[in-house]
Amino acid sequence: MTNKKITIAIDGFSSCGKSTLAKELANELNYIFIDSGAMYRGVTLFALRNNLISNTDVDREGIIDKLADVNLEFKANKNDAPSLLLNGENVADEIRTPIVSSFVSKIAEIKEVRTKLVGEQQKMGNKGGIIMDGRDIGTVVFPSADLKLFITADVDIRTERRFKELIARGFETTRDAVRENLIKRDHIDSNREESPLTKAETAIEIDNTQLSREEQLQKALDLVEEIIIQQRKIFMI
Ligand code: DC
Repeated sequence: MTNKKITIAIDGFSSCGKSTLAKELANELNYIFIDSGAMYRGVTLFALRNNLISNTDVDREGIIDKLADVNLEFKANKNDAPSLLLNGENVADEIRTPIVSSFVSKIAEIKEVRTKLVGEQQKMGNKGGIIMDGRDIGTVVFPSADLKLFITADVDIRTERRFKELIARGFETTRDAVRENLIKRDHIDSNREESPLTKAETAIEIDNTQLSREEQLQKALDLVEEIIIQQRKIFMI
């Protein structure tokens, strides 16, 4: 692998293993990994703490009014995903709770929220050497990314993976509840008005239903190598 640092955009449905792949790629390549979904989760946690979400209702106007009070940063961790800081507080665990998962897609539909977060994400990536995963990275955040990946997996496999992860972290849940949340989020994320989840025209699809983590990582590393070789050739012409 050469030292040329590129920008890599990874999009796909919920719980497809995008963040796992992005984290492993970043470790291998010594790139910065940004989980953009964590930022939408951070705004959701802020809204919950400020009573801007009640039962099933999201107070859109209230959230838009208070957006300027939401400060999100990432704190680097050695060999692990960066932790999200919400107004200086490490909320890496709290943003993964089922209550946040159940509202985050509603928050991510709000145009003003997206404008703020997309702007911050673009600033984080302006020097290259970044791997960002989410739903609109290849289409909106980094439309000129050097490599765009679109990750998919069978919904049963995704349910099983997310269910095991939640149980291992001590949450009480059922496979049915996890499956329902994944399907609901995918539906909202793919059908919303503001930058819905779609596969970018130039994205390369990886279906990891039958792939091990190692196989998926190797596929992605091969693609990175190809891009770097191609770019070197173009540069030499
Ligand atoms: O990747 P995740 O499951 O942590 O993302 C949480 C939610 O945030 C997801 O349901 C959709 C939304 N999201 C988004 O709209 N755009 C992104 N770039 C990343 C996440």
